[in-house]
Amino acid sequence: MSETQKSIYYPNKAFAKEARIKNMCEYHELQNWAHEDYEGFWDHYAKEKINWIEPYHTVLDESKAPFVKWFDGGRLNVSVQCIDRHLVDKKNKVAIIFEGDNGDQQMITYLSLSQKVNRFANMLRNQFGVKKGDRVVIYMPMIPEAAYAMLACARIGAIHSIVFGGFSAEALRDRIEDAQAELVITADGAYRKGKPYLLKNVVDEALCGSTPVKKVCVIERNHEEISWVSGRDYSYNELVANESSECEAESMESEDPLFLLYTSGSTGKPKGVQHNCAGYILWAQMTMEWVFDVKADDTYWCTADVGWITGHTYIVYGPLAMGATTVMFEGVPTYPDAGRCWKMVEEHKINQFYTAPTAIRVLHKTGEHEPAKYDLSSLKVLGTVGEPIDPPAWKWYYEAVGGSNCAIVDTYWQTETGGHVVSPLPGATPIKPACATFPLPGIMAEVVDEEGNKKEAGEQGLLCITRPWPSQIRNVWGDEERYVKSYFGDVTKNGKPVYFSGDGAIYDEEGYITITGRTDDVINVSGHRMGTAEIEAAIKKSSDVAEVAVVGKPHEIKGEGIFAYVVLKNEENLGELIETMKAINNVIKHEIGNIALCDDIVFVPGLPKTRSGKVMRRILRTIAKGEAVTQDTSTLEDPAVVAQIESCVKNGVC
Ligand code: PRX
Repeated sequence: MSETQKSIYYPNKAFAKEARIKNMCEYHELQNWAHEDYEGFWDHYAKEKINWIEPYHTVLDESKAPFVKWFDGGRLNVSVQCIDRHLVDKKNKVAIIFEGDNGDQQMITYLSLSQKVNRFANMLRNQFGVKKGDRVVIYMPMIPEAAYAMLACARIGAIHSIVFGGFSAEALRDRIEDAQAELVITADGAYRKGKPYLLKNVVDEALCGSTPVKKVCVIERNHEEISWVSGRDYSYNELVANESSECEAESMESEDPLFLLYTSGSTGKPKGVQHNCAGYILWAQMTMEWVFDVKADDTYWCTADVGWITGHTYIVYGPLAMGATTVMFEGVPTYPDAGRCWKMVEEHKINQFYTAPTAIRVLHKTGEHEPAKYDLSSLKVLGTVGEPIDPPAWKWYYEAVGGSNCAIVDTYWQTETGGHVVSPLPGATPIKPACATFPLPGIMAEVVDEEGNKKEAGEQGLLCITRPWPSQIRNVWGDEERYVKSYFGDVTKNGKPVYFSGDGAIYDEEGYITITGRTDDVINVSGHRMGTAEIEAAIKKSSDVAEVAVVGKPHEIKGEGIFAYVVLKNEENLGELIETMKAINNVIKHEIGNIALCDDIVFVPGLPKTRSGKVMRRILRTIAKGEAVTQDTSTLEDPAVVAQIESCVKNGVC
């Protein structure tokens, strides 16, 4: 353990005095309340926070667990929660600050947001015939229209499924098919590092051949020339202008689906994680208030993309539900230089800044002294998300960006948890660097063994959540069996299945939780979750490849890199290996997108398999790290293959 990790950082006293949760006593009181009267705890917050159209009759129904119902009988609309209710006292408050790649800005007030969302919603209903329960795929850059599209879907009860703009046409096609979406909302393109790029062409490619999609709504952002399919493609900019800025919100049941978001699992096919209205929005709002402690006049910036869960919960739904000012940024943190983020913090007087460790590492490496050039005194809370943060990056973030004066909230959560589940509270928690610290009040997160027994300090265990919570995944779209098997199949407590996150974790002597990483075949590249099976399935599509195994390998910037061991069909093809490598990466680009490109591809004569044919990935991970294999290899079908693979890795090729 490094010196940084051993230190404890106490909350800033002035900040703590004004914080919603002011000290650990208050934290324990809340957590004890939830332990003693779980339903009473949630009932209190659901009543306090949500504008119900009709009240619920049951707080939690577990009779069909793990299919649970929260706030059954209640009716609400998430767009009303995020917009309409603020029109009473915040209509002129800025809801969204948009900053484009080139620095252009838009200040969108709650009133203006309401009008834009209502027009968008009317357009979806009137021009595209979208109804409650229909799935709408959103494939968009980081522009305010992405938020309008999400909220417009929520307003009319359509279920949005955002596909990250970096995914390929093939990946987009799979997600469209799985959700059986009839409408895609996209943009002609956007700007990145000073240059326009296109998105609509990817949609065109994804819709080639048979597709459930009947219509495409195109937002014109960069006005580049794009192809147009008449009768299928429609211009948002033209259609929306004729729509009314009043739109009746659909009355939604608490457990009606709000959105799907596809994420990687341990098999090749991504899972459509389903979140429902009431529980999700309640926790999105509560965690915004507790974890970022955003105050009425604060400006909050999360640098994620709306294509990931962080963008859903902590750029759009959470901040707007609590009536905050949220920043949306189209560009990249290093353009035009490594001072971009800090310039924006100074200019917009950002109070809470939330980003991924990969971005912190990049900014640290490329612009170590940049923060000092800007006035960052507005900052109060710094957040990290998506992957473990290493102590040097943490220290730089704390000192150079936060001026040793801001709490760093290392928020642990997942697409499936909907919102933070283990995280420091900035006014209360004494922070240990690179440690997610404690479960949030109301979240029964524990580190246990497979029988649900709590692990002792220092013992590695499984991070489970042993009671349902409002914002938990409700289903894998169209696949109840997969939902049960993926999340409730590994760990039981008192004989009952409990939610297992897929992550390992460890308590220290004081009960602090540190996440130790995935226990399954999921890797985390730049905070993006990727299934090794998904990448292997893509690589196998290359005609040269007989077998492949993909593992994660520590990477200085990205956290984890992708390392592929490939067995070629024709082992004599040595002269063309560079071409084959390129071909493999091209297949990945085509099937998934650039985010899944391999950092290392090594051609090997065979894979280390047990006699039953299972690939021993642990051995491959050890070799990828450059460490000596100490595992028992006697159970392998061909133990000699290990030395051969080691030599291939050393020499770069087979
Ligand atoms: O392994 C954990 C890691 O990211 C995974 C969830 O990925 P995804 O569903 O894409 O959501 C990312 C944004 C919430 C987890 O299973 N992870 C998330 N946060 C942390 C983390 N690992 C370490 N520390 C964190 N703070």
